[in-house]
Amino acid sequence: MTPMTATTTAKTEPGDAATPAGADDVIRFRGVARRYEMGDQVVNALDGVDLDIARNEYVAIIGASGSGKSTMMNIIGCLDRPTEGEYWLEGGNVGQMSELELARVRNREIGFVFQSFNLLPRASALKNVQQPMVYRGIGKSEREKMAARALERVGMGDRMGHLPNELSGGQRQRVAISRALVGEPAILLADEPTGNLDSKTTREIMQLFDELHKEGQTIIMVTHEPDVAAHCSRVIRLEDGKVAEDYRQEKRPAAQEDPA
Ligand SMILES: Nc1ncnc2c1ncn2[C@@H]1O[C@H](COP(=O)(O)OP(=O)(O)OP(=O)(O)O)[C@@H](O)[C@H]1O
Ligand SMILES: [Mg+2]
Repeated sequence: MTPMTATTTAKTEPGDAATPAGADDVIRFRGVARRYEMGDQVVNALDGVDLDIARNEYVAIIGASGSGKSTMMNIIGCLDRPTEGEYWLEGGNVGQMSELELARVRNREIGFVFQSFNLLPRASALKNVQQPMVYRGIGKSEREKMAARALERVGMGDRMGHLPNELSGGQRQRVAISRALVGEPAILLADEPTGNLDSKTTREIMQLFDELHKEGQTIIMVTHEPDVAAHCSRVIRLEDGKVAEDYRQEKRPAAQEDPA
């Protein structure tokens, strides 16, 4: 393990409104905290985090249960806001955005994948993947074309009419990934994307993430599994809401993953 040094150099500070984050930074946290007041106790779910993530990074967020991983993902994904500090996403100061702007950012810049897939149970794969484009106001036939392309991209071109319960776990996750990608987001966020999958399906899904990364996608994922984190080129370990480790690693060679 090599200790991380700053990923960005000679950049202006985000506190200066005239000079926002550098063009290569997708994410910039400065002193980001998320505190919950529980009676007379304060829970520091995130406790003053500084972080820069550049375009096309492939990041694993690891750490014990309760260390703040999901809290960090929800803030990155604009599902939640910091109680302190500044978050810059693609050069925009998230703390200064209105609810409407935040909704737009969530729809345009973020693709979210969850452990439990979160698909609409009564909608076909094709309908599920179209959903984010409905909010963008894109017409039906264009939406269908985009969704079909996104499903083909993840190897689900022959299952477009299936409902979620007519698909395997790995196939459901492929549909969810394709829904996350249909709008070409700046960042793909995944919170334990392989948590409900067996080891063979996990390898297949990770292979897909590897390909997406190679094609230029910025990917940030939470995982408990060392084998999954081994795919990423950077690992951030949280402990009690703080960054305890942040290091780069060589991606594990594919041959080691699949001896068959
Ligand atoms: N809505 C909330 N209200 C109060 N405390 C919360 C809330 N959400 C999270 N927490 C607390 O914040 C801390 C971080 O929670 P978080 O869900 O980010 O952990 P995690 O690292 O994702 O854990 P896991 O691996 O179990 O998913 C925990 O101590 C948790 O109890
Ligand atoms: Mg979590």
